[in-house]
Amino acid sequence: MVSPNPSLFFTLLLLSVAVASSSSSQPNATNIGQGYRLISVEEAPDGGLIGLLQVNKKTKIYGPDIPLLRFYAKHETDNRLRVQITDATKPRWEVPYNLLPREQPPPLTQSIGRKSIKNPITVSEYSGSELLLSYTSNPFTFAVKRKSNGETLFDTNSLFSSLVFKDQYLEISTKLPKDASLYGLGENTQPHGIKLYPSDPYTLYTTDISAINLNADLYGSHPVYMDLRNNGDSASAHAVLLLNSNGMDVFYKGTSLTYKVIGGVFDFYFFSGPSPLNVVDQYTSFIGRPAPMPYWAFGFHQCRWGYHNLSVVEDVVENYKKAQIPLDVIWNDDDHMDGHKDFTLNPVNYPRPKLLNFLDRIHKIGMKYIVIIDPGIAVNSSYGVYQRGLANDVFIKYEGEPFLAQVWPGAVNFPDFLNPKTVSWWGDEVRRFHELVPVDGLWIDMNEASNFCSGKCKIPKGKICPSGTGPGWICCLDCKNITKTRWDDPPYKINASGTQVPIGYKTIATSAVHYNGVLEYDAHSLYGFSQSIATHKALQGLQGKRPFILSRSTYVGSGKYAAHWTGDNQGTWENLRYSISTMLNFGIFGVPMVGSDICGFYPQPTEELCNRWIEVGAFYPFSRDHANYYSPRQELYQWESVAQSARNALGIRYKLLPYLYTLSYEAHVSGAPIARPLFFSFPTYTECYGLSTQFLLGSSLMISPVLEQGKIQVKALFPPGSWYSLLDWTSTISSKNGVYVTLDAPLHVVNVHLYQNAILPMQRGGMISKEARTTPFTLIVAFPAGATQGEAKGNLYLDEDEQPEMQLGNGYSTYVDFQATVKQGAVKVWSEVQEGKFALDKGFTIEAISVLGLDGSGVISEVEIDGKPLMSVTNATVSTSQHVHLDGENNGESKIIMVGLTGLNIPVGRNFAMTWKMG
Ligand code: GLC
Repeated sequence: MVSPNPSLFFTLLLLSVAVASSSSSQPNATNIGQGYRLISVEEAPDGGLIGLLQVNKKTKIYGPDIPLLRFYAKHETDNRLRVQITDATKPRWEVPYNLLPREQPPPLTQSIGRKSIKNPITVSEYSGSELLLSYTSNPFTFAVKRKSNGETLFDTNSLFSSLVFKDQYLEISTKLPKDASLYGLGENTQPHGIKLYPSDPYTLYTTDISAINLNADLYGSHPVYMDLRNNGDSASAHAVLLLNSNGMDVFYKGTSLTYKVIGGVFDFYFFSGPSPLNVVDQYTSFIGRPAPMPYWAFGFHQCRWGYHNLSVVEDVVENYKKAQIPLDVIWNDDDHMDGHKDFTLNPVNYPRPKLLNFLDRIHKIGMKYIVIIDPGIAVNSSYGVYQRGLANDVFIKYEGEPFLAQVWPGAVNFPDFLNPKTVSWWGDEVRRFHELVPVDGLWIDMNEASNFCSGKCKIPKGKICPSGTGPGWICCLDCKNITKTRWDDPPYKINASGTQVPIGYKTIATSAVHYNGVLEYDAHSLYGFSQSIATHKALQGLQGKRPFILSRSTYVGSGKYAAHWTGDNQGTWENLRYSISTMLNFGIFGVPMVGSDICGFYPQPTEELCNRWIEVGAFYPFSRDHANYYSPRQELYQWESVAQSARNALGIRYKLLPYLYTLSYEAHVSGAPIARPLFFSFPTYTECYGLSTQFLLGSSLMISPVLEQGKIQVKALFPPGSWYSLLDWTSTISSKNGVYVTLDAPLHVVNVHLYQNAILPMQRGGMISKEARTTPFTLIVAFPAGATQGEAKGNLYLDEDEQPEMQLGNGYSTYVDFQATVKQGAVKVWSEVQEGKFALDKGFTIEAISVLGLDGSGVISEVEIDGKPLMSVTNATVSTSQHVHLDGENNGESKIIMVGLTGLNIPVGRNFAMTWKMG
């Protein structure tokens, strides 16, 4: 045997290690691990399946393989399958079961199977009602199939990659069909729109880098994707969640997807759909339903960093009023604080008596006030919050001492929200602050967690830190890099910050320690999530009301506690466009209350951009204007033209508030996103699969904004069917197969269309949601244009919105189903009230019904309500609409009738039936 030249061998070895470890853009990993074989399998005591996997051949790249793994699968529900792979001999880090409650797999002691595998190439199956798991034994691979159509959803049997399982490196791949459209995997600013694009890795690791960084690991981590496939006449969607909180790169290559994760376990959950709405329903029933939101949260919010004193804030509120632009909530960034310290007030600029007086005034008219809280607690011996924190031992530790970092107040320690003691201390601090200032909600920021320094730091002696005025984000502590442990310098480098910076860069050192010895390395991406839970608990206990929390960092399940904004964006046209994709993704992540900083955080937007931005932002579920400290003022009244666009767009929003609120109820009970991609309503219409310039509110209202400079027209896609313009209800677009139409969109106009078969509840609007919600309702009923036969449906949810629960059956809610049919000229519109007390108590009434899309000569007769002739209809108007049929059928304009019945006085909380005949 000829032995290899030792020096050449050594060089080759080094080279291969270097290639494998330096490049996170290398999906080919057969050299990293040789896969596993299944050596035993048996039924688990809980009805699941447990198997043992033995490594085929050990390699050393990225650390030694874990020799024996446990494979566990369970059909947890008819539409959810779990597949977990972990070390068979000792527990590994998993997302804590108390943070994200879910079924526990059987203990590891039960993992030694008795039924050993005889035939090494067996394909075996484990079947549930809609999903089927099949697996091969050597090498061990698994696939998930949809039973109803035989589609393979996930298949790890891959030529280029084997299952790899090391302590700090896990890898697995699935094959994908070419035509699968994938959505999700965030938080990420996606320049190519909502559909995942085969490109750089999607890196998931919560990081404070601004939303302007494309394809990079932003503030939240959501390792879940939805996969939509078209099969001709039908389409089916499913989702795959990898429940793992460690940093990871996910490589999507079009026909495959590879996960490279730096710790934890493989814990996959498959949700079978098959509609996109089914998927989010199944997903949120697992991760937690979206939090109920108070009604006022759907009003408009104004914020800015740099409201230097209370008079400025008072002025802003006054100016909104003068400009007749609706405003529900006024916010303070950290300007109200004393030296940027949480839970304090600056005695000079925000004197408490004056602030309380201001709050009293705005609360009386129904306005709300929210302030920011950062997690970093200033290290300052005369600061009570810090002293009590120290006394309760609430901070994350490094080498036995609270980990020292720097954020806005200077040196800080970070509370460890995994520690129950911290949760109580935090609750107490929130309570104390609420006694000082009765805020209506909390904004939790910088919770990735963001640190202006990296490594192990000391407070510099004899230096003031931070120095100078203004916010200042330059590290002023004395710091040394920490590289000595494998947690600080793991063998595989995820593409952190889009540039492979060390994972402890500008955050908490990854070798820092949480409660019970948990490493920051594992729990890093759960920081904002755990803070949301603690803050939610604090507010709920305190106010006895529905909490409102806005969190920058999120994880799987955050939507149950908090709303989200997309962080620091730029005042540019690109950023306006990106905001749509990010918002739509968060709907899929189970965080439907989402929006971006309207007009951009920095730099200053142009006047034209701010016009267009409010025309999009007025339809974000969470609609807030916010700007940076160094940006010029950009409240909507600062430019007359923007004020005009705001009055128009927010004018529509405030009329739509009952619809938005009903959507938030649907989100809360079924996870349905408030803002949705078009494919949610048109899953078989492939043309809309990648559409990221338009979106739906609910299932039927489509927003087609201008997103480009200098444009006064917009080319919009209209899926098959009839669409009615909200601008006048008389312009209608219909097509059989879907069509692009160029719409007029002058500077102050945003195009919004209602789809056929829908009934939209609207109100008169107003300057504040508290008033707007008491005005009479109008029902807009949309039939397919010109149909002699058709139907339409809609619903309405109302409640005492500050009650903690958002649910029926408690005496303070109302739920109504609206329905309508037209059949050979006979029109019927009726309601079925499931619960009416709240609406009856409040005296809500329907004053008008407009029916769109009718056919006939335009004469109406025999108008009856509940079987009695309706004598009191003061204004029954019949108008013809401008109707454009496209698709070559009836091209040109045709006559479509709209009937408007006004002067009605129908109680919302009582069933009614209205009928008439079309002549
Ligand atoms: C962060 C937030 C931003 C806020 C600023 C100051 O950058 O993302 O919204 O204005 O901190 O608190």
